[in-house]
Amino acid sequence: MITFGIMSLNMDSETSYFDGIARNAHACGIQCFRFIPSQIHPHTLQVKGKKFDLELKNWVDCEFPIPSILYDRCFYGDDEHSKQCIPIVSWLKSRDDITFLGYGLPNKLELYEALRSSVLSAYLPRTYPVLDITALLKEIDKTKEIILKPINGSQGFGIYSVKKNDKTFHVKTEKNKKVISRIFPNDAKLITWLKTLLRQHKYLYQPYLELSNDNSQPFDIRIFLQKNETGVWVERGKGVRVGITGGILSNLSAGGSAIDFSTWLAALPAHNKDFICSELEYIITHLPPLLEKAFLPLFEIGVDIGLAKNGSLWILDMNSKPGRKVLMQTRKNIKETLDLAPLLYGKYLSQTDLQERKNLYEKTLSN
Ligand SMILES: Nc1ncnc2c1ncn2[C@@H]1O[C@H](COP(=O)(O)OP(=O)(O)OP(=O)(O)O)[C@@H](O)[C@H]1O
Ligand SMILES: [Mg+2]
Repeated sequence: MITFGIMSLNMDSETSYFDGIARNAHACGIQCFRFIPSQIHPHTLQVKGKKFDLELKNWVDCEFPIPSILYDRCFYGDDEHSKQCIPIVSWLKSRDDITFLGYGLPNKLELYEALRSSVLSAYLPRTYPVLDITALLKEIDKTKEIILKPINGSQGFGIYSVKKNDKTFHVKTEKNKKVISRIFPNDAKLITWLKTLLRQHKYLYQPYLELSNDNSQPFDIRIFLQKNETGVWVERGKGVRVGITGGILSNLSAGGSAIDFSTWLAALPAHNKDFICSELEYIITHLPPLLEKAFLPLFEIGVDIGLAKNGSLWILDMNSKPGRKVLMQTRKNIKETLDLAPLLYGKYLSQTDLQERKNLYEKTLSN
């Protein structure tokens, strides 16, 4: 039997998803475990976690060797436990006897650097690290409006738009599903605020794109891609995330809602439909191989695509640990497919020459 381990930072996360995977495991010839990376004993390499019991149809406490196939669903924050787990997961990724379904993606700046000269460059908003405040102010002066984002994805947290009106600055963010606006009367006041912000996280900036619909709701198209049971990339579905009126984010965690892609598309004029669909197809075909060439093998990707008022499409974000919420809310009966996918791909991996797969890639990523 193949041993398959799901890793998360706490035992309460994604329970419905992990239960779904576990219930399907046995039929795929897989024994399913779940654990927290910090629960691996550093000397014995035994793991304290849970095993899915076939008879009880439930998880039971168990001690076991590190499973040979790992599914990494750890979402790191700035806390001590995350800091403790990151090097453990990196170490696991470097081991020859363990295979990860996917090896993760680096931060937003590294992603941009890797793709900026590729065939997808036209779809990427110009992205710069915030290195010094003077340069940032010059950019705001030039473009009139920018967006500031932490370089490590934050599910919408800590994102600000900064707009210059004559001498004053209008800063907007979203917190607890509400839009928060602040006016800074001059450069000096903005600089003081920026200094505090930049002490908390590393930031990047991009031109602010007009990604809202006619009701002033920001929205984006989220595409969910996975490898199937033969290791081929497939699209599991698309959904449209719509944020709050006057807001700047379309993340569901920021208070947005999800609508079905076809319903959304049907409301557009015919010539727009064809254009958008062929552009999305182009992005979907090219993105996974480009990412796997630049970084490490992946199992799934969530791609967020913005549609600007002028009709242009923008790749806003790509996640190697995508959420399933949009898909679950917009596609009936998708749960079974999603629960089975990691098992079927895991099985495929255990039957292919894993060493060859690992040797292709030398780098190890931490998340
Ligand atoms: N350049 C931009 N111009 C206007 N709006 C943007 C821009 N970039 C992002 N947004 C809005 O902000 C939202 C969040 O951006 P992004 O996905 O880059 O960060 P994140 O969600 O915090 O990252 P992650 O998904 O990795 O946690 C987007 O879905 C979009 O609504
Ligand atoms: Mg995002």
